[in-house]
Amino acid sequence: MAKEKAVLAYSGGLDTSVCIKWLQDEKDLDVVAVVGEVGQEHEGLEAIRQRALDTGAVDARVIDMRDEYADSILTKALAANSLYENKYPLLSALSRPLISKYLVDVAHEVGATTIAHGCTGKGNDQVRFETAIKVLDPNLKIIAPVREWELKTRDQEMDWAAEHGVEVPTTKETPYSIDDNMWGRAIECGVLEDPWNEPPTDIYTITINPEDAPDTPTYVEISFEKGVPVKINDEDVSVAEAVYKMNEIAGTNGYGRLDITEDRLVGMKSRECYECPGSMSLITAHKALENLCLERDVLKLKHSLEQEWATQVYDGRWYSPVKNAIDAFIANTQTCVTGTVRLKFYKGSCTVVGTKSDFSLYNYSLATYGDEDRFDQKLSKGFIDLYSLQLVTWSENRHKNGLCE
Ligand code: ARG
Repeated sequence: MAKEKAVLAYSGGLDTSVCIKWLQDEKDLDVVAVVGEVGQEHEGLEAIRQRALDTGAVDARVIDMRDEYADSILTKALAANSLYENKYPLLSALSRPLISKYLVDVAHEVGATTIAHGCTGKGNDQVRFETAIKVLDPNLKIIAPVREWELKTRDQEMDWAAEHGVEVPTTKETPYSIDDNMWGRAIECGVLEDPWNEPPTDIYTITINPEDAPDTPTYVEISFEKGVPVKINDEDVSVAEAVYKMNEIAGTNGYGRLDITEDRLVGMKSRECYECPGSMSLITAHKALENLCLERDVLKLKHSLEQEWATQVYDGRWYSPVKNAIDAFIANTQTCVTGTVRLKFYKGSCTVVGTKSDFSLYNYSLATYGDEDRFDQKLSKGFIDLYSLQLVTWSENRHKNGLCE
């Protein structure tokens, strides 16, 4: 009788390679490996696909998700200026919903009953994969081998791999746990687990040390149309191209490194290092343009909804009604976020040094202190009298009752 099939989110690393064999041996499943290309560093996707087959997968596919990731996920993240806890641009949280969608599609196509992933039981990514998969198809079973097997250390995993004929990936040994895509790179574990240790510079691969960055600043102009980046220095770009280009420009100027304490959904605080040159600079530029074009109360409400959006997405709720509803509000705000922002990069910093837009609400004749001033300063007296009226009434009452020293 044919075995049941499991679709595995495969990266080519040790964990997911062991997963292939473990799912066969321990769960008696045929494994279909799916590698999602989302702009991560890799040693060759064909080699990774071949490794899955060599390890025993019955089928292995590489799916290029980059443009869809940029157009349908990162565009929304940028419109939401999304930074979890005001700091982390959510790179891992953003890729999981799209990868999950493809895992479910492949499961349907090959008639698989199960989806498997290589996440541990201590992180957020398990929640994101599984919540997305359950929403997309509640009938699929989910297996997380790393949560089940008793292989605690990397050495134990290597031993298990050797005993079971799993070819151990020859990629450079790293003491860190890394997840990356075009929106940035996350680095955890090893010496970083002690928050007192300064991150060693070798954890970074897409940003250079700010100290070693060029001695002259780099200026970049980013043009947005309805909140979407469309031009960099007068060159038309797709969203994916904008992200790649800004990774390059900001990265070579040492901008985009983060070292933060983060609150995981599963309860613990963790020390996280990231390098996010493209996402951080695009968010900086986009925010500056919004400040120019959006009315004050819209900005204020949007700001609070952005926090909620980021938390929803961090918590694995990409496919949720509240996140969709916030997207609708945000989309409405973006209709006039069209214009150009000039950024200056210099030794690890990114500064907004210019903004312009046909939708600018900045009115020179209202703001200037020069000859062209059209602001009637006399009106301010009456404004302040009414604005402070209730506070003044309260203060008079306190004085009358002797409640003020
Ligand atoms: N802490 C981040 C998050 O939860 C990054 C997780 C990265 N995953 C990894 N395997 N290193 O989104």
